[in-house]
Order: sequence, then C-alpha cells, then structure tokens
Amino acid sequence: MSNLIELMKLADVSVGTVTKHSLDFGDVAIAHTAEGVFVVDDLCTHADVSLSEGDLNGCELECWMHGASFDVTTGKALTPPATQPLKTYPVHILGEGENAVIAIEMKA
Ligand code: FES
Repeated sequence: MSNLIELMKLADVSVGTVTKHSLDFGDVAIAHTAEGVFVVDDLCTHADVSLSEGDLNGCELECWMHGASFDVTTGKALTPPATQPLKTYPVHILGEGENAVIAIEMKA
C-alpha cells in the first residue's frame, strides 16, 4: 500500500531549477527539468550537504561542495567523489494548470 504526500505547487518550481522541501523524515530536492519533475533526497551521498543548493543542468544535479553529479531521473551518482546513489521518489502531478501540485508516493 502507498500514499501520496503533497509537496508544493508545480508553478512554484520553474523549469531548470531545483528547490528543497522539508518533510518529517528529511529534506528532498525537487528538480523541474524539461523531461519532467523528479524528487530525490536532498543530501549529497558524499558528505551530507544540500544538493538543492547545487546546479541543475538538464537532468544532472551537481553538488556545490565537491562537484559530484547525480542523475535526478534515477538517482545514480555520475561523477566522483560521490559513488552512492540518491534515493528517488515516484512523482505524481495532481490537478492541472495553475493549481497543479507535485506529490510523491510513499510506501505505507
Ligand atoms: S559533498 Fe557533495 S560531492 Fe562532496
């Protein structure tokens, strides 16, 4: 069984940007790419800094601290020094137009 957690309005995350959202279990990074919206854990797997403060290039999220890149579509670590993947979350867009909301699916 799973449930949906609403994060924020789609309109509040421009295409090409990434933003942090805090949840009970930790922070997630919401990346709005030309390929769609992807949500991953916000902490870099190399040294626990916030990835939402890094740069989003297409579907690659680059850590500002030491430059590791992650594929936000899969969570895979693409370049060192990070080697471990990011946790990813299934994304649902609820509603349409200005009222569309980004939600993630959590296993109950
Ligand atoms: S803390 Fe992210 S690459 Fe080192």
